[in-house]
Amino acid sequence: MKAVVFSEAGPSDVLRLVERADPSAGPGEVVVRIARSGVNPTDWKLRAAVGPSGPHDEITPGHDGAGVVEAVGPGVGHVGVGDRVWVVLAQVGRAYGTAAELTVQPANHVVPLPDTASFDLGAALGVPFMTAHRALTSGSVSRLESGALTGQTVLVAGGAGAVGNAAIQLARWAGATVITTVSSAEKAALARAAGAHHVVNYREGDPQAEILAVAPAGVDLVAEVAPVPNLALDLAVTRVHGTVAVYAREGGDDLVLPMQSAIGKNLRFEFLVLYTLAEKLVQAAVADISAALAEGAVRVGESAGLPLHHYGLTELAQAHDAVERGIIGKVLVELD
Ligand SMILES: NC(=O)c1ccc[n+]([C@@H]2O[C@H](COP(=O)([O-])OP(=O)(O)OC[C@H]3O[C@@H](n4cnc5c(N)ncnc54)[C@H](OP(=O)(O)O)[C@@H]3O)[C@@H](O)[C@H]2O)c1
Repeated sequence: MKAVVFSEAGPSDVLRLVERADPSAGPGEVVVRIARSGVNPTDWKLRAAVGPSGPHDEITPGHDGAGVVEAVGPGVGHVGVGDRVWVVLAQVGRAYGTAAELTVQPANHVVPLPDTASFDLGAALGVPFMTAHRALTSGSVSRLESGALTGQTVLVAGGAGAVGNAAIQLARWAGATVITTVSSAEKAALARAAGAHHVVNYREGDPQAEILAVAPAGVDLVAEVAPVPNLALDLAVTRVHGTVAVYAREGGDDLVLPMQSAIGKNLRFEFLVLYTLAEKLVQAAVADISAALAEGAVRVGESAGLPLHHYGLTELAQAHDAVERGIIGKVLVELD
């Protein structure tokens, strides 16, 4: 099979297209023929900073992907050869991710993809939607379903980002009133297309007043991508007993929390990262995202606020660079 690998940390030119032996499925494993690999910020960050370790002298990047089951190992029952699937956290704890024609994965990280969902959509689900799910379940509900957030208001910081887009779509499906922040008119249009009810440009006017005009008592939950620059806003617009779910550190790493505001409102700050997320929470996200998918509540593409950018496997370095530059939308690698 063709695969992209890197053997040392560094810029995108450490990525090499190579031929490797086809993987086989051991007990409890599934081999997937990848049609689309999804690229996320974590892929270039890991490549840039972390080289191979342990028994592996090379890494194939890529957590997200969609394709067709090529082989199943003993003990696998929920998918069979030829089934369309998407994969979850394919490179967590493993050296071989989705930037390859074939990947072998534990069965519980291989999820059926309905015929109604394209491979583009399947490859866009993993990291962004899992992150959004965890953020949205950091507050009053532990599981998402249609109606679970009815009556609640969610503020999605950065609604034109890939995770922001997923958070808008899932929160909207769950019945929340969704407010989001963006930095431009172009991004505002995308956030509206994703389903946000109210879009606030955080770089102009009075974002705090605009958000409180929608939610006078404050929002129930903030899905936060930039906690340092947004801390004052979050403290001002989150309601008593509300939650700020922090999944990234855009704009700064050192969060200094004014305790009086946080304690005074009985706020909950929750920090999340997929890499150490308990498996039961991974599986809860998989189940809820699958339900949203089955109900047609999850989409990709310009009309869903997430423009698609396709690259070939030979162009993975350019795909990583595009994500690193902050391209608007979803970067996908085509292998079919
Ligand atoms: N914890 C985890 O497990 C996890 C999982 C997935 C992603 N992440 C991290 O989450 C971040 C976003 O990922 P992504 O795939 O969504 O990236 P992305 O598509 O590039 O989106 C990033 C978004 O952040 C927004 N942003 C930056 N500063 C902001 C601010 N002060 N206020 C509001 N929005 C702001 C940007 O919007 P503007 O340009 O309009 O400011 C942009 O839309 C990355 O750092 C990624 O590594 C973490």
